[in-house]
Amino acid sequence: MSTAIINISSLVTNDPSLGEGPLGLVQDAAVVIDGDRVAWIGESSKAPATDNAVDAGGRAVVPGFVDSHSHLVFAGDRTAEFNARMSGRSYSAGGIRTTVAATRAATDEALEANLLRYLTEALRQGTTTFETKSGYGLTTHDEARALRIAAAHTDEVTYLGAHIVAPEFADDPDGYVSLVTGEMLDACAPHARWVDVFCEKGAFDGDQARAILEAGKRHGLVPRVHANQLGHGPGVQLAVEVGAASADHCTHLTDADVDALAQGTTVATLLPGAEFSTRAQWPDARRLLDAGVTVALSTDCNPGSSFTSSMPFCVALAVRDMGMTPDEAVWSATAGGAAALRRTDIGRLTPGARADLALLDAPSHVHLAYRPGVPLVSAVWRRGVREL
Ligand code: NIG
Ligand code: FE
Repeated sequence: MSTAIINISSLVTNDPSLGEGPLGLVQDAAVVIDGDRVAWIGESSKAPATDNAVDAGGRAVVPGFVDSHSHLVFAGDRTAEFNARMSGRSYSAGGIRTTVAATRAATDEALEANLLRYLTEALRQGTTTFETKSGYGLTTHDEARALRIAAAHTDEVTYLGAHIVAPEFADDPDGYVSLVTGEMLDACAPHARWVDVFCEKGAFDGDQARAILEAGKRHGLVPRVHANQLGHGPGVQLAVEVGAASADHCTHLTDADVDALAQGTTVATLLPGAEFSTRAQWPDARRLLDAGVTVALSTDCNPGSSFTSSMPFCVALAVRDMGMTPDEAVWSATAGGAAALRRTDIGRLTPGARADLALLDAPSHVHLAYRPGVPLVSAVWRRGVREL
């Protein structure tokens, strides 16, 4: 079945061959969807005949957001910790233990219901692809079950057994690294595409992180790294060295870190929800973009450091506080996320791409930053199916 969305005031394709600038902007546009794919893009007046037509009414369309970093398999929340932080306490990785205890105690059904709740929330805000991680189980059984639950809802599943050292191994961190690179990895690798490690003081050091990422690679997983969130450290350069798809956070960077990213193929994924929710310094997107680094924007949705599922909110923060233009932020939240997941079928609207798109209640994509906090997503198609 084919559907034409006609009378689009401004269409972001992210395909410069289709329109103006890096966003490939087409004015007065139409998109034709056939099955789960984009079949045609062009001027609305020239749209071919289709089974159905939807009149966009002079509103904008963007590719569905690609949220390439989230932690959605968990139970409970951390309201008290957030409250304490907003009264002056600082964020530390230790809070993760609270969520680990709640997650271990939850049934599979409760974890899945929670995941679905946040996915629905994200979809309403235009997210059509999301990556999500384990990391709140920290036993072989609990990490593997988190990945199984996630894999029922997305292809982009990340093994994060190395989120923090499990409480049982507090006196034997290297013993925990052996578990994460041994029995736990054997049980988890079949359910995941990616391997991640929180490389940070209080979590895993550079040598431990390298061992974990290399072990994941031997099991066919591709690395991504939580790097340089809370302070300077080896994470970013390690990510580039091991060929990670993405170095995530990138808040505290030296010139050598920026150079490494600029020379490598690793995407820098910035997560402004985390800086917002921990009152930390903003990552400097401008510095990365000016150095030629590919930048993605994602939510990092998790109950501790960034409890937002809203990509439009992250776009607005990135524009207001990280030196991005609205065009750059929208690109990073769509095509940038796709690059961080090494995907070419999503994050852009071009013939043959997946028909994942959001219709905004606004005349252009710029309104995502210009009208912060306003729910502008009025319809979403995912794999060609209207979901909203
Ligand atoms: O990406 N940095 C490590 N992991 C999460 C925080 C998880 C938590 O606090 O529960 C993050 O910010
Ligand atoms: Fe994270």
